[in-house]
Amino acid sequence: MSEQTYNQIKVLISEKEIDDKITAMAREINETYKDTLPVIVCVLKGSFIFCSNLVKKLNLPLLEIEFLAVSSYGNEIVTSGKVNLTMPLTGSIEGKDVLLVEDIVDTGITSKFLINYIKEHNPKSIKFASLLCKPEKLQDHINIDYLGFNIEDKFVIGYGLDYHGKYRTLPYIGYF
Ligand code: PRP
Repeated sequence: MSEQTYNQIKVLISEKEIDDKITAMAREINETYKDTLPVIVCVLKGSFIFCSNLVKKLNLPLLEIEFLAVSSYGNEIVTSGKVNLTMPLTGSIEGKDVLLVEDIVDTGITSKFLINYIKEHNPKSIKFASLLCKPEKLQDHINIDYLGFNIEDKFVIGYGLDYHGKYRTLPYIGYF
């Protein structure tokens, strides 16, 4: 990354705004799961930072965490429309209360795929959290139980989201 490119990044959502939103979201999730033992399903790679910061704010020390990975953008800025499950779930979620955690719902193709995939594993319940959503791009209705921010149709980076595999570690959501 050249210094010039780096300097062109604008902040869409600051680190503080994200942190405040995650705190509020965690409060709701704590309430929902206070009498159960949820299993968090973290969707790699994009949601690793959001998911980490969310689970640290949950007052649910007995929860479990599972990971899976999907990819549909590769190095492009538009979806291929085909979701590749690059790493399936390894642990069992059968009969469990699942909270699926995503970084962004853009077209919604990935979320739709993942919700069907989770359902095939017979959980007791499924809820969905996403840091970001682009309502203008959604191809279908997706029920997001815990949503951070609706954003306009910009290609965003940071806080786990990448451009060509880079910029994931920016502490804010930015755009060029
Ligand atoms: C991104 C993002 C979501 C998905 C959303 O994943 O992390 O999973 O795209 O887009 P959609 O709503 O249009 O389907 P990507 O394929 O870029 O993989 P990555 O998380 O490893 O970067």
